Amino acid sequence: MASSNSLCSESERSRKSLTHKPLRSVSTRTQQKSAELKSQSKAVSTKAKENKRKITEKAAPDVLKSLHMEHERINQLLDDMIQPDALKTKLIKKNLAEFTALTMAHLRFEERHVYSKISDDHKDIVFACLEEHSNMKLLLKRIMVVGATNVTFHAKLRVFKNLFQQHVKEEEGTIFPILQRGLGEVGLRNIGITYTESKAA
Ligand SMILES: [Fe+2]
Ligand SMILES: [Fe+2]
Repeated sequence: MASSNSLCSESERSRKSLTHKPLRSVSTRTQQKSAELKSQSKAVSTKAKENKRKITEKAAPDVLKSLHMEHERINQLLDDMIQPDALKTKLIKKNLAEFTALTMAHLRFEERHVYSKISDDHKDIVFACLEEHSNMKLLLKRIMVVGATNVTFHAKLRVFKNLFQQHVKEEEGTIFPILQRGLGEVGLRNIGITYTESKAA
């Protein structure tokens, strides 16, 4: 009987060895393959990100020039809307929509990526410029609320234009040179990359 039990145990061990060993082996191979695929996928993703960054760096605009061009465009839109017969044209709605969207995006970009980069040595002028931004944003919201048909529309635009021109004079004459001296070419290029990304978002 003892010998029969022994044979039975031997047979059981053999059966387990035949059934479980290959399964473990298959499972290990699958895990290894999965890890390899994950690693390859990660490498491809990292490479793609590097390539995208290189392309963006090559295409990075001169951010100060881009901001200057936006100042020019905002001024042009204001002039077009302030014309006495502007309300008679169909362009007023289109101009107003572009003016409000462009100006709001412009002010926000400068606050997040330009003024935030200026050292505390110039905090007085930075605070003054940010106060001007607040005033302009407030007036901009009031212009959007009343719309082009309101009797105060032209008056609001004229006041906005005065605020804006005074602010731009200070920004381009004082803030931009401070930024150039403080950040140098690499720092400005990084803001240029952020500028491109913000326009693509
Ligand atoms: Fe500004
Ligand atoms: Fe500006």
